[in-house]
Amino acid sequence: MHQSLWSLSQKTSTYPPLSQHTKTDICIVGAGITGITLAYLLKDTPLTICLIDSDRVSSGTTAYTTAKVTAQHDLIYHELIHTFGHYDAKCYANAQLEALDFISQTIKQHRMDCEFERKFSAIYTQNAHDIPLFEKEYAAYQELGLKGRLVKTLDLPFPIECALILENQAQFNPVKYTTALLEEIQTYPNIRIYEQTAATDIKKKDGTLTVCTSLGYEIEAQKVVQTSHYPFYDDLSFLFAKMEAQTSYLMACEGVKNMPEGMYLSYGQPTRSIRTYQNYLLVGGEDHRTGTEKETKTRYEALTKFATQYFAPSNISYRWSTEDYDTVDRLPYIGQMKQGDQIFVATGFKKWGMTTSTVAALLLKDLILGQESPYASLFNPNRQHIALQIKNLIRYNAQTAWELVKGKLRAEEDLSQLTPGEAVVLKLDEGKYGVYMDEQGETWMVDLTCPHLGCELSFNHAERTWDCPCHGSRFDVTGTVVSGPAHSALKSTTNRIDPNLF
Ligand code: FES
Repeated sequence: MHQSLWSLSQKTSTYPPLSQHTKTDICIVGAGITGITLAYLLKDTPLTICLIDSDRVSSGTTAYTTAKVTAQHDLIYHELIHTFGHYDAKCYANAQLEALDFISQTIKQHRMDCEFERKFSAIYTQNAHDIPLFEKEYAAYQELGLKGRLVKTLDLPFPIECALILENQAQFNPVKYTTALLEEIQTYPNIRIYEQTAATDIKKKDGTLTVCTSLGYEIEAQKVVQTSHYPFYDDLSFLFAKMEAQTSYLMACEGVKNMPEGMYLSYGQPTRSIRTYQNYLLVGGEDHRTGTEKETKTRYEALTKFATQYFAPSNISYRWSTEDYDTVDRLPYIGQMKQGDQIFVATGFKKWGMTTSTVAALLLKDLILGQESPYASLFNPNRQHIALQIKNLIRYNAQTAWELVKGKLRAEEDLSQLTPGEAVVLKLDEGKYGVYMDEQGETWMVDLTCPHLGCELSFNHAERTWDCPCHGSRFDVTGTVVSGPAHSALKSTTNRIDPNLF
């Protein structure tokens, strides 16, 4: 996979893997921004915390985002008012603004060096047909007390029809931020952090939960919190059927002469997301459902064309992609997986993980400590109004069912087409296999049946990963899990096989 600009900020020091059975009050699974923030919020309580990650801390989605810290989430507010009413829409806006404020205050309090900068956030359209929609959203801002303004021009090098600006939002380097949070908590005796420790299952017995790990060691806990982007443990809550994985792409460009001032997002397709970081201009977009496109390289080509046409960079230094989960009603799932349960979850942040992760951590802290939160019912994963979104649910799952069947029907490819950096799909008696050839001419063969629920994987040419179109699991070319919900590696008949075997 490509390296993101943020991952350069990762420290080389590592936390150990779990090396024995252990007990804790709270086991947090997933050391990205949500899990780390939650551990930070619980550090002064008498609770013991075990924070684990299947990889390195802050190495997942947190390191692959645009890192805009904003309450401006597309044109969501008029829709929220329409669907859920004024109170819930106001709760959503307040939760996001409080998260932004929490991040800002925490950075100030600990003098964190994470390049936090206040910026305006703007969503724009180049299509005159969208203007009434922008006017509606602006009216929703006024109703909810959001400090917005409608404008006809921006400091971007192309014409727009209209833009909605939300003042006083922010951007930062997310890995520097989470690293600074970790530095604040790592000396607390009630907090232990383990890397390279993948949770594989949860066993329930007599009110105690046991988290099983890939290392064979178990963590006995009173409460388990899944902050792993996609919950590894579903517990028949069927969250996987209520979310859709979307992939999007981002590039860091150097040598741009006229850097714009704010953070920008286009409305409609193709999506364009723009922000600055130091001397880089970040240009992103080109979203699509994960695992449904073969020629993903064209997505980077489209972004390169856009950046070249309007910003004339001298160099494109970094390219990376990310995966986000959208939910049926556009609200994240944060809370108990089941009513009265001691397993908690935070997922479905769409593309707004910087503020929503903090909303999640703040809310989960309240739930764990038995405190009231005005946001608990709105983000409850078991909320009743999901049933009202049944049309979206059917659309998601009709697509998933189609992927399950379509994958089995596609014609196999010819191994002679295989060139370095590419992959082909082979149909053998016992199933379909993907064969990837690396730059040295060595080949890697994996079973293309997703170990989650059996959909067929397809090759992501841009990232060189095998991606699942059903719920977004991704695997590297050797079959190792890059991101879940799958938590076991792909079956491989032989790694580094000799292509002459075929
Ligand atoms: Fe669910 Fe692949 S991620 S079947």
